[in-house]
Amino acid sequence: MVSFKNILNNLNLEVDGIYSGLKSNANDQKLEISLRELVASKNYSNYLKSVAKSHSIKVMDYEVERFLKKMPQNAVILDIGGCWGWHWRKINIIRSDIKIIIVDFVRSNLIHAKKVLGDLVGNQINLVHADATNLPFEVNKNFKGFNGVWSVQTFQHIPNFSKAIKEVNRLLLKKGFFINYSLRNTPLNMLVFKIFGKKYHKKGEVNGSYYLERASKNQLRTLTDYFGKENVFVNYSETLFHPDLKFTFSGKEDNYLGYLDILLSFIKPFAYFISRQSSFLCKKNNI
Ligand SMILES: C[S@@+](CC[C@H](N)C(=O)[O-])C[C@H]1O[C@@H](n2cnc3c(N)ncnc32)[C@H](O)[C@@H]1O
Repeated sequence: MVSFKNILNNLNLEVDGIYSGLKSNANDQKLEISLRELVASKNYSNYLKSVAKSHSIKVMDYEVERFLKKMPQNAVILDIGGCWGWHWRKINIIRSDIKIIIVDFVRSNLIHAKKVLGDLVGNQINLVHADATNLPFEVNKNFKGFNGVWSVQTFQHIPNFSKAIKEVNRLLLKKGFFINYSLRNTPLNMLVFKIFGKKYHKKGEVNGSYYLERASKNQLRTLTDYFGKENVFVNYSETLFHPDLKFTFSGKEDNYLGYLDILLSFIKPFAYFISRQSSFLCKKNNI
């Protein structure tokens, strides 16, 4: 069984309870770092209430459980761009055998994660301050790689997408799974924006805040180059949840429309037209 010590051996655990693993500055994401630091400097009395403004909690809880079913006993998962870590808040109830490492390049986000995750941090979960394109972990005789790499709406902000995927591939164990969720060019939303004469952002810098490239054919090609066409699967999620159309009430943890949202994502043509998020699930089968 792999221990955290095998993976985090070279990193310093600082007094804030977070491991330092930043090897270089992400110069192409400076704008985003400033924005995220500003957001993190605020106080949050109810984290899940804030999360529900930008994610459907029920949908993502379901996605977490689906991914965990693919994980073997005692698996270790890397969450890239894990921010407040809320996806893993129930990991001790769902899978007490699994260990998680959450990476984010904004340290203050990980300070919030400590509040969301409480005692899980230092036990089932560890937090690492690091950049997705230059991760501080080594594969060696004591650590052969992660069983799963999970990332939600983070790679869409990384201009050097293929550098980050190279890191995933380096650190993913053979037969392991990588899943990447991104916003997508939703036909319904593009239509609504067109009708109201509003610009729909597809790729590039968003109003001096961050880089955003929605799920694209280029990204899919990069993934199939690494993992093979037969090992990359596309799915859709967050069908009823649309912050850009001011439609967010289904996102709350206790809103039962979240279940309907999950069901609708199985009706593929409908989900294709309406869902806001794509996932690319990749299996490392090719070595
Ligand atoms: C849109 S948020 C998503 C947060 C989280 N995954 C969730 O689902 O709530 C993107 C997160 O990725 C982090 N991030 C963006 N680029 C990164 C990079 N190159 N390396 C590490 N973290 C990054 C940001 O700091 C932020 O916390």
